[in-house]
Formats: sequence, C-alpha cells, structure tokens
Amino acid sequence: MNRRQLGHSGISVNPIGLGGMPMSIQGRPETVQSIRVICLALDKGIDFIDTADVYCLDNDDIGHNERLIAQAIKEWGGGTPVTVATKGGMNRPNGAWTTKGDPRHLKKACEASLKALDTDCIDLYQLHDPDEHVPFADSVGALSELKQRGKVRHIGLSNVSVSQIKEAQGIVEIVSVQNKCNLYDREAFKEGVVGYCEKEGIAFLPYSPVGGFRKHKRTGRDPLIQEIAGRSNMNPYQVALLWLLAASPVMIPIPGASRLESARSSADAIKHVLSAKDIQRINFI
Ligand SMILES: NC(=O)c1ccc[n+]([C@@H]2O[C@H](COP(=O)([O-])OP(=O)(O)OC[C@H]3O[C@@H](n4cnc5c(N)ncnc54)[C@H](OP(=O)(O)O)[C@@H]3O)[C@@H](O)[C@H]2O)c1
Repeated sequence: MNRRQLGHSGISVNPIGLGGMPMSIQGRPETVQSIRVICLALDKGIDFIDTADVYCLDNDDIGHNERLIAQAIKEWGGGTPVTVATKGGMNRPNGAWTTKGDPRHLKKACEASLKALDTDCIDLYQLHDPDEHVPFADSVGALSELKQRGKVRHIGLSNVSVSQIKEAQGIVEIVSVQNKCNLYDREAFKEGVVGYCEKEGIAFLPYSPVGGFRKHKRTGRDPLIQEIAGRSNMNPYQVALLWLLAASPVMIPIPGASRLESARSSADAIKHVLSAKDIQRINFI
C-alpha cells in the first residue's frame, strides 16, 4: 500500500501509525515491554507515532509517553526517520482529563514536550481539545507563534468541527485533524470532517480506530467483522483498519498498542486487501 501524505507538510508516512496512549495511562505495562512494542512497530515499517504530554497517570507524571517514545526511538536506532506527533492543551489533575488551552499553558507545555521528546523542534504539534473557556483563535494563535519561533514544524488539531478547522486555517496552516473514528463512531464522516479534510488535503488521523482503549473488544466480537476476517485470513482489528484506509486517501489510523501482538497485527494490516463488496457490507453496519 502506498505511503500517505501528512497534509501539505511534505512528509509521507506508512499508512498506519502507532498510538502511544495505552503504554502510559492506568494499567500500563512495564517500561521494558513498551519499549519492545514501539521497537517492533518501527521494525515493521511504522514511522509515525502519536503521543501527548498528558498520556500519563496524573500531573506529576506529565510527559511519560513522550519520554518513552524518545527512549525507544533512541534504542531502536533504525536509521530511518520517525515522525512524532504530540499534543498540548490538556491537564491531568489527580488523574482527571481537563482542557487547558490558554496560550501561556500551551507555550509552557510545548517547552516541556520538547524536553521530554529530547528534540529542539517538534514534527507535529496538535491542539488536543478546544477549551470552552478560551477563545479558539487564542489557542491556535499560540500554536502559530510556536511555529514562527521554530519550536514546532507543523500544526494539527484534535476533537474539532469543520467550522473550527476553517477558523484555524485562517490563522495558520493545518496539516492534520485527529478525531475519533471507527466502525461504531462515524460522526467524523457524518459531520463532514473527513470530507473537508479530503477536499483540503489535510491528513485525517482517526483515533480509537479499532474501537477504543476500553471498547475495542466489540470489534473482535462483531459477527460480520469476524466473518470477513476469517474468510480473508485476517483478524477483526485488521479489517477495522483496512475499512478506514479504504474510506479516504487522507486517513492515517493510529491504533494504540501495549502488547506486541497488537502492534504486529496493526502493522501487518496493510499486507491484506478488503474487497469492495466487504467494504460495502461494513458501510451498512
Ligand atoms: N486526540 C484524542 O483526544 C485521543 C483520544 C484517544 C486516543 N487518542 C490517540 O489514538 C490512539 C489510538 O486510540 P486508542 O488507543 O484509544 O484505541 P484503539 O487504537 O482503538 O485501540 C485500543 C486497544 O485495542 C487493542 N488493539 C489495537 N490494535 C489491535 C490489533 N491490531 N489487534 C488486536 N488488538 C489491538 C490494543 O490493546 P493492547 O493495549 O492490549 O495492545 C489497544 O490498546 C491512542 O493511543 C492515542 O494516541 C487520541
């Protein structure tokens, strides 16, 4: 399968990336296992990793996932470039997930992410979630300033509507949008976000692509997905990923993994093909 463009950034990546979240939140594996998961994904050709400063346990642990990814890439030492996308604009007081999109926080968070990722420029910096207490233009403006100052190369958005993408585009170039999208959560299609990204050449990074951290087992148990998977020598999670990839050329799913088997299976999905008939049957779920 051909590589996919990260919007108009000039960066092309493997059609499937890796989501780092399960390796750093509650129930996370030992560091040694997470490093092996990331290295396996890289060995298998994955060269795009999604993370966030808040993929951690709480505010005392901010940057856990970013540090892990930086360490794994260093240990892997594979020689080919790996694009890392992180996010700012949230907080984890006592382990809760809250938005914090004021410019002062975003600039401070970006500095902390640079340190955690052990880099002097972040490949892709995404606004994690619009903060209802802060004008959206102020949050995006802070990201734009970080780009001007050479702290980040490219800017992305997450959890946004079409009108918010348009507003952000009026301030700075947007190369990616990351919203929830999987077999059972199709709002990104229905609300026109995927269609708009396609029209604008913005990469769409569906998060929770196999169903989500807590709900992914539903994909494994789905009778139709099981039937298609069994007939095509795949597993149901690979069918879910191929269905997304077939839905639009701007899709770059970022499945999470904390086990080697999940990382291997997601990376291998692109070796398979989903027939047009099966795609259509899944469309009607
Ligand atoms: N922007 C946002 O607000 C936001 C929100 C949520 C997530 N995200 C990002 O999106 C990424 C993915 O979302 P997610 O982790 O919530 O859900 P997900 O990718 O749908 O997957 C959740 C779980 O499914 C299992 N899995 C994934 N691929 C598999 C495969 N091929 N075969 C078997 N099992 C598989 C993994 O289990 P094991 O852990 O047991 O390996 C994984 O932890 C996150 O890691 C994060 O980077 C962003």
